[in-house]
Amino acid sequence: MHGLFFVLVMCTVRVSAFRLHQVKNIENCPDHTVFFKHYYELHGEPVVLKCPSPRYKHMDFSALTPNITWYKNGSNTVISGRDEDSRIWAKGNALWFLPVMLEDSGVYICTKRNSSYCAEVSIHLTVMEKTAAREIAYPQVLFTFTSGKIVCPDLWDFAPNRTSLELKWYKDALPLEDDNERFIILKGSASLIMTSVLPTDMGYYTCKMSFPFEGVTYEITRTIQLETVEQEKRITPIIVYPAQKTTSAALGSKMTLPCKVFVGLSSHFQTDVEWLANDTSVDVVYKQSRVTEGERLEIVENGENFIEVPLIFDSVEEVDFYTDFTCLAQNRYGYQVLPTRVEQEAVGLSWYIAMIPVALACVIVGGICMHKCWNRRADKGYSVPKV
Ligand SMILES: *[C@@H]1O[C@H](CO)[C@@H](O)[C@H](O)[C@H]1NC(C)=O
Ligand SMILES: *[C@@H]1O[C@H](CO)[C@@H](O)[C@H](O)[C@H]1NC(C)=O
Ligand SMILES: *[C@@H]1O[C@H](CO)[C@@H](O)[C@H](O)[C@H]1NC(C)=O
Ligand SMILES: *[C@@H]1O[C@H](CO)[C@@H](O)[C@H](O)[C@H]1NC(C)=O
Ligand SMILES: *[C@@H]1O[C@H](CO)[C@@H](O)[C@H](O)[C@H]1NC(C)=O
Repeated sequence: MHGLFFVLVMCTVRVSAFRLHQVKNIENCPDHTVFFKHYYELHGEPVVLKCPSPRYKHMDFSALTPNITWYKNGSNTVISGRDEDSRIWAKGNALWFLPVMLEDSGVYICTKRNSSYCAEVSIHLTVMEKTAAREIAYPQVLFTFTSGKIVCPDLWDFAPNRTSLELKWYKDALPLEDDNERFIILKGSASLIMTSVLPTDMGYYTCKMSFPFEGVTYEITRTIQLETVEQEKRITPIIVYPAQKTTSAALGSKMTLPCKVFVGLSSHFQTDVEWLANDTSVDVVYKQSRVTEGERLEIVENGENFIEVPLIFDSVEEVDFYTDFTCLAQNRYGYQVLPTRVEQEAVGLSWYIAMIPVALACVIVGGICMHKCWNRRADKGYSVPKV
């Protein structure tokens, strides 16, 4: 559910980033749009503005790429390609500032044209003092008590060779040490991995990369404002057992059918687990108490919380083969139901019993995978691009 939430956030951000606004025609260029990505950069750092190529009104702007010109609004001079000592130059669809200065703030217009057509896009650039880095921090969100990662954004123009990427990370201006077990910094990765996110991890993170260019080493700084969200407020229970839709039992045999529920990081007490027979309470359907709900067990395995409620058959009877059993797990954030049936065991199928440990192992592995996938899904939403 939180995965979906972040996908939604991402979509919203992406859509707004590429929404184009038609403004009045300028000179002989019939098509003028404003790119909604606003670049916020720090004084003295390298910056690359890119002329966006969104497909708009079914036209393919990328087809116009070879003829791109750049100029700053209010200046009639086209920014040229690089020569000896230029600080700002155009190269392909990119406009380089090495380094950018406060006075570079403004609107830059890139024009793409061919012999018959012309399109212009305005791009806003705001350059801030280095001390104002927090004002332009990239927002990122992680869930507490699970692993997660912070991503150092917008680096790839300066690190075309990703394998050589090397970053320094800081939390609230203090360097994160390599030997800190809670953080993992991998060479060649723009991520700071946290083995387990704590509420106290909230704050400002800074990643720094050096960018050597023709004998001068520049520094690229990105500041991230990390917010932590309590995952337990979002989690819904997951039934991990019974895994199969039917369970075999011999007539007259005793049987225990556990319903095992993963409640993850939410507390046990928040989750209700119960068995139903024909969509009714077991004690109502089985007035003689031949089939009863057993004692609720609250289990912690590898730091993860589970609840187990067994359905106990004193002796399996034929009517049980025609009864729908359902395990129902719910908390205030959601619920899950798992219907299951009891089947008459065919004679001579004692291998079934041998299979039980294997089945259990599968269930456990399945449960772990499910949990991992769940985390991974949430991972996708970390990096929210600055708009
Ligand atoms: C471009 O500059 C002119 C005058 O300098 C100003 O009136 C106009 O609003 C600017 N356009 C944008 C998109 O900022
Ligand atoms: C670039 O623009 C010129 C006119 O300004 C045009 O003659 C030429 O065909 C264009 N080149 C491409 C590749 O579109
Ligand atoms: C110029 O670009 C427009 C838009 O991509 C395209 O429709 C048109 O065919 C192009 N003209 C030439 C001469 O390439
Ligand atoms: C990228 O970096 C690796 C290791 O540093 C190096 O072997 C490789 O040649 C580099 N590739 C490019 C395209 O620079
Ligand atoms: C549950 O419903 C089925 C079909 O409606 C019925 O045959 C069966 O006897 C019911 N089970 C019990 C325990 O009453």
